[in-house]
Amino acid sequence: MEKIFKAIEKSAKEIAKIIDRDTFSYSNGDNISGDHQLELDVESDQIIEDNFREIESIKAISSEEKDELLQLHESGEFLISYDPLDGSSLVDVNLSVGSIFGIYKDEFRGSNLVASAYVVYGPRVELVVATNDVKLYRLANGEFHFVKTLLLNEKGKLNATGGTQQKWHSHHKEMVESLFQEGYRLRYSGGMVPDLHQILLKGGGLFSYPSTTDKPKGKLRLLFEVMPFALIYEKAGGLALDEKSKRLLEVEPESLHDTSSCFFGSKYEVSLLKKYYG
Ligand code: F6P
Repeated sequence: MEKIFKAIEKSAKEIAKIIDRDTFSYSNGDNISGDHQLELDVESDQIIEDNFREIESIKAISSEEKDELLQLHESGEFLISYDPLDGSSLVDVNLSVGSIFGIYKDEFRGSNLVASAYVVYGPRVELVVATNDVKLYRLANGEFHFVKTLLLNEKGKLNATGGTQQKWHSHHKEMVESLFQEGYRLRYSGGMVPDLHQILLKGGGLFSYPSTTDKPKGKLRLLFEVMPFALIYEKAGGLALDEKSKRLLEVEPESLHDTSSCFFGSKYEVSLLKKYYG
């Protein structure tokens, strides 16, 4: 798996360079989830595909920007799902964006997820890798350097929740409001990677993307966004559940691009789900 992590580091350095360019335009296509693809999405996807293609142990890859699974090496043992540039439209307003990776053995299911990683491209480029624990690395002088191991506290102070508020269910509104009544502070940039990174580095809080009246299964994609972060949050000592309080790593994706409501955070906040969602 070391080679896979090296390929992720290489891709991160290359993607950081293309983000730095001054051009910013749309490609001619939409991805299967209906998002209009930016050239940056397409180029980041190609960078990652090219780097993974070099690694014999990778059997197949699945990208948020590709409709279908792409077979790489028949004899490989790993499957990788990734979102090459999550929140890419935020580049235009100079907010942070990220790449997300889930590394599976044999099958794309939570119980087979053996490692995950994400890269955040902000004022700094940082990489977080979860295997048995969760490690933070920072890019400096062209290389990633280990910074520290990340662990969540039992309880945090931040509250980040997505979706159109007008379409939230009343029980979700009540849960969010109860945290504000307890003194939690709102933090939401609209980029899943920096928003979850902030909660992880500050030691806790809640990130939620609920089901809404217009999106009954939420918006965030299980394979490309939700499951990799579920592993990271669990390994950091937190919880990652869907609205039925089921572990996100036990939710079976019905298709490659399937979505789910999701709640990530430290134990105290995520446990409130039972009270408000039943
Ligand atoms: O999936 C793309 C994404 O931009 C995530 O990074 C982010 O958490 C979410 O969508 C924001 O969606 P909304 O604007 O509906 O809260």
